[in-house]
Amino acid sequence: MSSKGRTLYVCTECGAQANKWAGQCGDCGAWNCLQEAPAMPPAGKSGIKPAGYTGAAVGSEVRILAEVDATAEIRQSCGNGELDRVLGGGLVQGSVTLIGGDPGIGKSTLLLQALAELATRNRTLYVSGEESPQQISMRAQRLSLSRDRLRLLPEINVERILAICEIEQPQVVVIDSIQTVFTERLQSAPGSVAQVRESAAQLVRYAKGSGAALFLVGHVTKEGAIAGPRVLEHMVDTVLYFEGDPGGQLRVLRAVKNRYGPVNELGVFAMTERGLKEVSNPSAIFLSRHDTPVAGSVIMVTREGTRPLLVEIQALVDECHGSNPRRVTLGLEQNRLAMLLAVLHRHGGVAMYDQDVYVNAVGGVRINETAADLAVLLAALSSFRDRPLPTDLVVFGEVGLAGEIRPVPNGEERLREAAKHGFKQAIVPRANLPRRGSRVEGLELRGVTRLAEVMGNV
Ligand code: TYD
Ligand code: MG
Repeated sequence: MSSKGRTLYVCTECGAQANKWAGQCGDCGAWNCLQEAPAMPPAGKSGIKPAGYTGAAVGSEVRILAEVDATAEIRQSCGNGELDRVLGGGLVQGSVTLIGGDPGIGKSTLLLQALAELATRNRTLYVSGEESPQQISMRAQRLSLSRDRLRLLPEINVERILAICEIEQPQVVVIDSIQTVFTERLQSAPGSVAQVRESAAQLVRYAKGSGAALFLVGHVTKEGAIAGPRVLEHMVDTVLYFEGDPGGQLRVLRAVKNRYGPVNELGVFAMTERGLKEVSNPSAIFLSRHDTPVAGSVIMVTREGTRPLLVEIQALVDECHGSNPRRVTLGLEQNRLAMLLAVLHRHGGVAMYDQDVYVNAVGGVRINETAADLAVLLAALSSFRDRPLPTDLVVFGEVGLAGEIRPVPNGEERLREAAKHGFKQAIVPRANLPRRGSRVEGLELRGVTRLAEVMGNV
């Protein structure tokens, strides 16, 4: 049999396999979902034996757990505090990291900067299938990066990339991007789900066998997922998404999966003329301070990964002229807003069924936690009544369906962050008040247990 083997077709919806391509999956009935995938190669004939391959990662030998080396992973800094933070405290040897994001958001820039730093201590390889060596060299020069030790490979054939890796023995490899590379094992075009999955699988196997740290760049497609959507997430150790408004300066790198650190950790960068600069005090950026109080604006303390972050929640409540009032959220969950408005009606006696409600987390930040509930409700109420809240007030807390205000994790840490930025008052769940004896300097605290207790604040 040829090295290309037999070709199978796998349904991307249900995973069913077929020998022949068809427009409809015979199992689940979905249309246009059969994708080419290679049949499993015969055992022992995988063909690719990366340098230093010991079989430890993908071998089939039974081991006693106690005999497996359990020393902590070896980490090193990428020379960028924010990137290190998102990776869980530096780059882990042998780890595979997927960096996803819209085209033009700054993935190549970030990795080029990191690689230039890593190149001072490691053998590195930057594999580019998107830009010419001249383009990359010009960019490195513009970013004032040291180009002496940066090794560059313009190549898109995975088999050739791996062959060169075997000769070069790099310790850090960047593949920019996974959508441009292809494996000879498949006939489909680069960028197809099958190609992306199979190419990534080969590269991951290489990284695990050789101990090289691997970065895969993945462009997010229009549907919002990395193409081959999600198929890579389970294969890699860490998934980072680069987000931000391409028109603006601010970029946020978020860990959505990390085998070596906390998820939802945020790294904040500013895109400048000299590349990406770390922003070590992000609260100052997300916070747009108003000189005079503005109705509909409330500051909350959210927690992203391991650090607290001050974010402004803005609401606009306006008379609805259609039959369906709008519930629009940016950076917050829409269903949660609908639920909160129902709680506000039932337990606060304020009805908004004839009002459009828009809520925005300022600065393009996305808030995934319920601690925003109280701030969202107060912002909506403030806009509805056209009465501003004090500018030195922070608010956080979860609101339950029974109108109760529930505590959120790490209350004291959030309060400290607020005090650090000069806030003077806080309305928080009573259970989040600091324990007897401990106070938060400079902050006047009010603990609440029911929604009804805060209705009079606006
Ligand atoms: P890039 O890293 O090429 O994005 P990606 O790899 O995610 O597609 O980023 C390109 C954008 O960044 C481009 O619009 C120009 C901008 N940029 C700067 O503003 N300053 C810089 O120093 C660099 C290198 C790029
Ligand atoms: Mg790029």
